[in-house]
This record gives sequence, C-alpha cells and structure tokens, in this order.
Amino acid sequence: MSKERDIQETRAFFEGWELYQTIIARNYMFHAEVIEHEEALLARLGKEKLSIIELGCGDAYAISKVAEAISVTKYHGIDITRLALEYARKNLEGVIPNVELVEGEMFSETVGKSGIYDVAILGYTAHHLVRNDKVILFQSLEQQLTADGLLIVYDLVKEEGEDREAFLERSIQFFEASWDAFDKEQLASIRDHVSQKDYPESWKGWESIARKSGYEKAELRFRDPQNIFGIMAFSKA
Ligand SMILES: C[S@@+](CC[C@H](N)C(=O)[O-])C[C@H]1O[C@@H](n2cnc3c(N)ncnc32)[C@H](O)[C@@H]1O
Repeated sequence: MSKERDIQETRAFFEGWELYQTIIARNYMFHAEVIEHEEALLARLGKEKLSIIELGCGDAYAISKVAEAISVTKYHGIDITRLALEYARKNLEGVIPNVELVEGEMFSETVGKSGIYDVAILGYTAHHLVRNDKVILFQSLEQQLTADGLLIVYDLVKEEGEDREAFLERSIQFFEASWDAFDKEQLASIRDHVSQKDYPESWKGWESIARKSGYEKAELRFRDPQNIFGIMAFSKA
C-alpha cells in the first residue's frame, strides 16, 4: 500500500473521533495514568517555562489536563485529522497561552525541521511507523530537544519475543471481550485499523530505538495488567 493511501485510511478511521472519545472517557487506553505520569515527569523537570511538541496530538486531551496543574507556556501539536485538531483547540483554550496546531503528517512535519522544545510527546501514534522510521523520528526529536529535554512515549508495548501477529490478535481479542461500550460494527473497525496499521515494539525494542537515536536514559514507568500498553520516558542526560 502506498504511504499516501495509508495516511488517508488512518485519517478516515480517526475522523470518527467520537469512538476515540469513548476510549478516553472509559479509560480503555489508560489516559488517566498518562495524565498522572506526564504531570510527574513535567514537574520533575522543574522548569518555569515549558515548551512542548506533540506528534499525533489528537484532541490534546491529556496535555490539556496536565496543563491545569503544571504551567505549559508553548505547545505545538501536529495531527492529520482536522476534526481532532478542532477538539484540541477547544481543550487548550485558556489553558496554554501559546498554541500552534498544524494539520499535517508528523514525519514530514518533524524530520529535517528545526525547533527547540523541552518536551516531545508521542502518544499512541509512533506504532504506525515501521522500526527504521521510528528511529529517524526519535533522532529528529532528539535534535530538537534541549540538553535536559524529555521524550515521553506512551504506546503499544508487546512482550519480549512475542511476534506482531500474536500480539495484535491477543490485543484485539481483549478489546472485543472487554470494551463493552462498542457495538459489533465499531469493534470490527477497530480490528481492521489495528491489524492493518499497527507495528508494536517490546520494551527492549522501544529502548533500542531510543538508544540508537541518541537518548541515554530510558524509563518504563507504567504497564497495564494485560501487557498491551506502556508509558515510557527517554532523556539525553
Ligand atoms: C490513537 S490517537 C492518539 C491521540 C493522542 N495522542 C492521545 O494520546 O490520545 C492517534 C492520533 O494520531 C494521528 N495520526 C496517525 N498517524 C499520523 C501521522 N502519520 N501524522 C500525524 N498524525 C497521525 C491520528 O489522526 C490520531 O489523532
């Protein structure tokens, strides 16, 4: 499948943003834990002024909640889905003073671009990329982070040695059995999206991508009980 077609299909899936809002509202993908860990990580940086870039930001729900507790001065969000960005604008209004939202593809909007940020966030988005593209994207963000900057990644984390197909089937079966807010048709569209678009990594895989990209420290901060999701942090020093 061509890259352009792939992006169009991903965009079409997320244009049904209400489905994802239900996922957040029911905490199916642990956004409550994401908020908790992001808040702790940003507090640990101890900066009065914080600038953040977020790729595949969606409706920026998590950071809008974090920014109620931690002062974020500048936010640059990138996403291919216009509807999600409309929600992001509303969520961030009055919470972060300087907001730039860009409708665009995260890889081409980031790689080769210049920028200086304290924090980069990749939430449930990097798994759309194959291994080598993940390294290129992580490297590019590393170059745009301050010396004490932080990359926060929350995403699919498969078990060590588990192959892609086995992980995806195990995850989809769990979603079908426990995400009871969705009807059969919605679960079928989730199955299609996940099985065609997702390239999960194990914790060692994410760690290796980060090390190859110039990050010295790697932290796996959270794992869900089913070993499907994880919240990770990478820093240069
Ligand atoms: C699962 S949602 C995650 C949203 C948000 N980061 C969160 O944690 O809730 C994935 C988001 O990534 C966006 N996305 C997927 N592929 C993308 C790409 N190549 N470039 C930019 N955005 C992308 C989708 O439009 C969607 O908003």
